[in-house]
Amino acid sequence: MARSKRITFLAELIKGYNVVLDIGSDHGYVLLEALQKGYITYGIASDLRIEPLMQAEKNLKGYHAKTIQSDGFLNIHESFDLAIIAGMGAYLIGEILDHAPSFDVTYILQANDKPEVLRAYLKDHGFMILDEYVIRDRFDYVVMKVKRGKMILEEKDLILGPYLKDKPEAKPYYERKIQLLSKLIFQVDLKRRREIEDLIAIYQSVL
Ligand SMILES: C[S@@+](CC[C@H](N)C(=O)[O-])C[C@H]1O[C@@H](n2cnc3c(N)ncnc32)[C@H](O)[C@@H]1O
Repeated sequence: MARSKRITFLAELIKGYNVVLDIGSDHGYVLLEALQKGYITYGIASDLRIEPLMQAEKNLKGYHAKTIQSDGFLNIHESFDLAIIAGMGAYLIGEILDHAPSFDVTYILQANDKPEVLRAYLKDHGFMILDEYVIRDRFDYVVMKVKRGKMILEEKDLILGPYLKDKPEAKPYYERKIQLLSKLIFQVDLKRRREIEDLIAIYQSVL
């Protein structure tokens, strides 16, 4: 079955890691694709809800993988090299990371919205961004590779992304942001209009 560009992109990003934990795995497609292509050795699919977890269990049957019902990391007691948390809101990803293990692992994070909120969370909670990507699959998705550590981010970098801002492939993403904001500007009050103008100026600064 053809999977979405986003799923394929995420599967490629976890290539070369040994044990991968997928928090909020839903159907388990990211792990399935990574296992089918031999990208990873073992997958742990985990979800808060039992129905998606059973679906993941069905999809991952016969592969080197297990499923665990868990609220974020709370019921995860096994070790892993990389955790992926994708397809959720930025605030929820932050709440899940509040209980991330203290040992050294890599995280692949993909919030469906507000990457700036996730960047601010990471900066304030002892995580550092190692790289960033943007993938267009009907919508624009920003993906971050993260580890525990310190990072200093200017206000502008919270919006643009400290790595994304230097990537040529991110320019169409910034242009679409400007287009959207330029439409929104006519529908808001004066205070919000000023904020939107500032945001547009930040995006324009990297085009
Ligand atoms: C929209 S799906 C995303 C699925 C997949 N990660 C992806 O990127 O396509 C979000 C999944 O996260 C699960 N979820 C929500 N809150 C969670 C939490 N606190 N811990 C674990 N899973 C959670 C939901 O049950 C749902 O299956």
